[in-house]
Amino acid sequence: MDTNYNPYSLSGKTILITGASSGIGKATAIECSRMGAQLIITGRNEERLQQTFDSLAGEGHQQIAVDISNADGVLRLVDGVSAVDCLFNNAGVSTTKPIGFIAENEIERLFDTNVKAPILLTNMMVKKKKINKGGSVVFTSSIGRYVVTPGNNLYAATKGALSAFMKGAAVELASKKIRCNAVLPGMIETPIMTGKGSISEEQWELNKQRYPLKRFGTPEEVAWLVIYLFSDASQFITGSEFVIDGGRSLSI
Ligand SMILES: NC(=O)c1ccc[n+]([C@@H]2O[C@H](COP(=O)([O-])OP(=O)(O)OC[C@H]3O[C@@H](n4cnc5c(N)ncnc54)[C@H](OP(=O)(O)O)[C@@H]3O)[C@@H](O)[C@H]2O)c1
Repeated sequence: MDTNYNPYSLSGKTILITGASSGIGKATAIECSRMGAQLIITGRNEERLQQTFDSLAGEGHQQIAVDISNADGVLRLVDGVSAVDCLFNNAGVSTTKPIGFIAENEIERLFDTNVKAPILLTNMMVKKKKINKGGSVVFTSSIGRYVVTPGNNLYAATKGALSAFMKGAAVELASKKIRCNAVLPGMIETPIMTGKGSISEEQWELNKQRYPLKRFGTPEEVAWLVIYLFSDASQFITGSEFVIDGGRSLSI
């Protein structure tokens, strides 16, 4: 028996992760490093990015603090990295606003970060030949793209756009042997869950009860799905969306 046999290993892979200073991106960076990958992590907040960097297993990782909501920031990031095997387009922002309260600058803020940034980053990485043949690109979408929650319309629209882009990219980049997929988390316990302060503990618990597994997810649980999509074990999967929500989207 070959005891080194492990199609899920990330050993020898270089991985670029956006939104690595917090939540899902942070956990994914740490878990990927524990699976043997070399990481390039990015986010805006230098202090929190450093905390992630200090938590990475192994050596030879890189960190670049940059705001990716504009083309200059994305270009700085792309110029600062070497070619990678995997790209996690994960950075994102959310808002909870009924339709009548959505302002133009809020639409721009959400679309710039959640849609424009991952499109530009993927575009520039491809143009500059910085995603290796056999590479894997993963996008963080959301079950909000399917499950309607009051006040979630604008955020859901950004994730719908992102998922649509992912599918087109999967077809276009297949000729370069680059795969594209998306993860669609339900509620995951990270700082982005802004709703916690604005709703009562009772409502919070009621929300949890709508999850068949009776809890929200952890960032590590999303990381483990992303690891699968980065690994050679998923090499025949492209253009797919993976719901990870403890069963929440099964019922209304
Ligand atoms: N948590 C959930 O329940 C949930 C569910 C479905 C989908 N998601 C998605 O999962 C992804 C990660 O969210 P999270 O829950 O881990 O939230 P989080 O803890 O708030 O992390 C968001 C990350 O995105 C980065 N970011 C935001 N705007 C940026 C910008 N303009 N330039 C560069 N980086 C930027 C943040 O960096 P700084 O803090 O350094 O600015 C941070 O690292 C998002 O796309 C989110 O929409 C989350």
